[in-house]
Amino acid sequence: MNDLEALRRETRDALAAASDSRAWDGVRVAVLGKNGKLTALLKELGKVSPEERRARGAALNQLKDELAAAIEARRAALEAAELDARLARERIDVTLPPRPAPAGLIHPISRTMEEIAAIFGAMGFAIGEGFDIETDWNNFGALNIPWHHPARADHDTFYLTAESGRNAPPLLLRTHTSDVQILSMLSREPPFRVLAPGRVYRSDHDATHSPMFHQLEGIVIDRDITLGHLKGCLIDFLRAFFGIAELPVRFRSSYFPFTEPSMEVDIGWDRRSGELGKGSDWLEILGSGMVHPRVLANSGIDPREWQGFAFGMGVERITMLKHGVPDLRPFYESDIRWLRHYGFNPLAPTMLHEGV
Ligand code: PHE
Repeated sequence: MNDLEALRRETRDALAAASDSRAWDGVRVAVLGKNGKLTALLKELGKVSPEERRARGAALNQLKDELAAAIEARRAALEAAELDARLARERIDVTLPPRPAPAGLIHPISRTMEEIAAIFGAMGFAIGEGFDIETDWNNFGALNIPWHHPARADHDTFYLTAESGRNAPPLLLRTHTSDVQILSMLSREPPFRVLAPGRVYRSDHDATHSPMFHQLEGIVIDRDITLGHLKGCLIDFLRAFFGIAELPVRFRSSYFPFTEPSMEVDIGWDRRSGELGKGSDWLEILGSGMVHPRVLANSGIDPREWQGFAFGMGVERITMLKHGVPDLRPFYESDIRWLRHYGFNPLAPTMLHEGV
């Protein structure tokens, strides 16, 4: 009966050493399997003399029950340990704050256009849209700039091939947003106030010029509009946009073919330090004027009944001034470091009541 005792000890040791279900199964098969050690002993029972068979048979059956129970207990223990390990591994700590999701930033150009739309929106302006590809008429002709006009030379225009035949005037990439003056007058019944941000194109490229840039055009048409309205409107806008209540604003007579009289608008700054609203220097910021009677007539509006004013400004320029951006080129380079530095939080929208 010593062999039974040896098998008992061996099996118990092997079970204790089995640390996963594979090893455990190896022990089970080696003992209770078809060719297992205990199975072999049971088979040999027939060869034993009848006197010994009774006692040995009882001992073998007892050992078999005992080892089967031990094997089963080990299986349960291994399973429980595996579950514990999985629970520990897969635990979710619900008290951890979420990782910040990467969010994009608002490009300074978009931000400026939003701010300006908010300021003029509060003054009753609607947003108008034009087309990047324009007719020669809307970009120049209707704005009182005929073929021979010297103002054409100031616009380094990208001309496109005429679609409708060789003799038709060519299409072009609009050189300013002033085409929206024409489009607004053609599509709206006066009185109206329209603000139109958009892309414009000129064949020009250096540190302060880009072949594509952005402008904002404004036009107001009503019955009794005067230079006083123009000045009040632009002074209010400039002070709100730059956030300087007493920002000095100067109107300087100038010339544009589509406005009469025309005025360039300057703001006070200190040339040395670059500070706005300080010092005694002037910085040109936008063009404006009373819409020329011929431009009204070109767009089907009777200049004896209606009049108004228009203005246009460069979005990049006023953005650079407001935020101290020294170079124009990075605006279009999509350099993520520049965007992170100059971009705006999209979850902090432009709110007029907070100042912009
Ligand atoms: N279109 C002019 C420019 O590009 C600006 C302007 C607009 C001037 C409206 C007067 C009135 O410089």
